[in-house]
Amino acid sequence: MTDTPLTESPLTESPATGSPLTGSRAADGLVTEIPARKSLVNRARRTDFHRLTVSRVEPLTGDSAAITLTVPDDLAGAFAFAAGQTLTVRHGEERRSYSICAPAGPGFPNAAPRIAVREVAGGAVSGWLVRTLKAGDALEVQVPSGTFTPDLSVPGRHVLIAAGSGITPMMSIAASVLAADDKSTVTLLYGNRRSDTVMFADEVADLKDAYPARMQLVHVLSREPQEVELHSGRLDGERLRALLPVTVNVARMDHWWLCGPFGMVNDAIDVLRDLGVDASQIHRELFWVGDDPPVETTHEDAPVGDGRNVTVILDGRSSTLTLPPGTPILDGAQRARPDLPFACKGGVCGTCRAKVTSGTAVMRRNYALEQRETDAGYVLTCQAVPQTDEITVDYDA
Ligand code: FES
Repeated sequence: MTDTPLTESPLTESPATGSPLTGSRAADGLVTEIPARKSLVNRARRTDFHRLTVSRVEPLTGDSAAITLTVPDDLAGAFAFAAGQTLTVRHGEERRSYSICAPAGPGFPNAAPRIAVREVAGGAVSGWLVRTLKAGDALEVQVPSGTFTPDLSVPGRHVLIAAGSGITPMMSIAASVLAADDKSTVTLLYGNRRSDTVMFADEVADLKDAYPARMQLVHVLSREPQEVELHSGRLDGERLRALLPVTVNVARMDHWWLCGPFGMVNDAIDVLRDLGVDASQIHRELFWVGDDPPVETTHEDAPVGDGRNVTVILDGRSSTLTLPPGTPILDGAQRARPDLPFACKGGVCGTCRAKVTSGTAVMRRNYALEQRETDAGYVLTCQAVPQTDEITVDYDA
């Protein structure tokens, strides 16, 4: 077993804090650390877990439930969420990221966070959330995060394409944009197997009833015949190619929101590009991908060799360490900074997002960040392998 060398950086003034650096010895090496900015010390940090009380657990289908949480007054600001954001839940050593289904925005100043969970076969967390958790229990959650969020300050024509539990953030986005501006419209294409597996069936219908002129709802069922032939079958590329042009005026739509399995989301992206939709109008969120996440490179079995000097900045505190070549930043840096945020470690959830402010890194895969984010220098640190001898990633940016 070989420990990754942790090296000390010269003591200098830090641009992140303006405070002098102080060297502190970690358990297995010297890590350069910078104290946190005062403003960040006194508020809830992105990486802290908070024990919130479950106020309600509502079964949605036989294998899914919606969970509403009570936020105490002193955390109300920290848990204010945007439409489409997620909460990371911790259960034992496991972490999972779940989308918020509650509406947000000016019309919903006191909305409580509500997530929806579908049980995954063998899922260590989802089964517990759906089957065991009850009102009055405590749930460990981080503050909301995520950029799968519409701009509520401007009206827009939104098309939402969801499959299965991919409806969860769409519930939040649809209700939020419709309430925020009476010129906004929503078209929801929602794919499921059968009508009894449709999550939020009643709530989606209620939303349509509340906004009959501005919301269009299309259910597509793969194992149950529908009156309209196009609405029967899988919501795949072929069906979307036929369905979209007869459902909306594609060229006039402003935003396309995609959430569901990897195959459906990728099919939809291909179809939209073929139909001339600009990439900047397409927003996606995956719940899983078709293969297993890459094998984690642990600190202990990482290859020996000349290292890359990596500086991570989180909550105003900077730590510099040396990682062996080929090691993703998160895997290597976690040993020095166990507070670094993550959930899936598979390039899907986006929880580990940070901005590269110097140096370069290449991601092994990316199913979470949009082009505009990667263009701006953001990476998924669970997937980002440094390409330069020196690199700085800022989780606070
Ligand atoms: S931890 Fe989920 S994308 Fe990195």
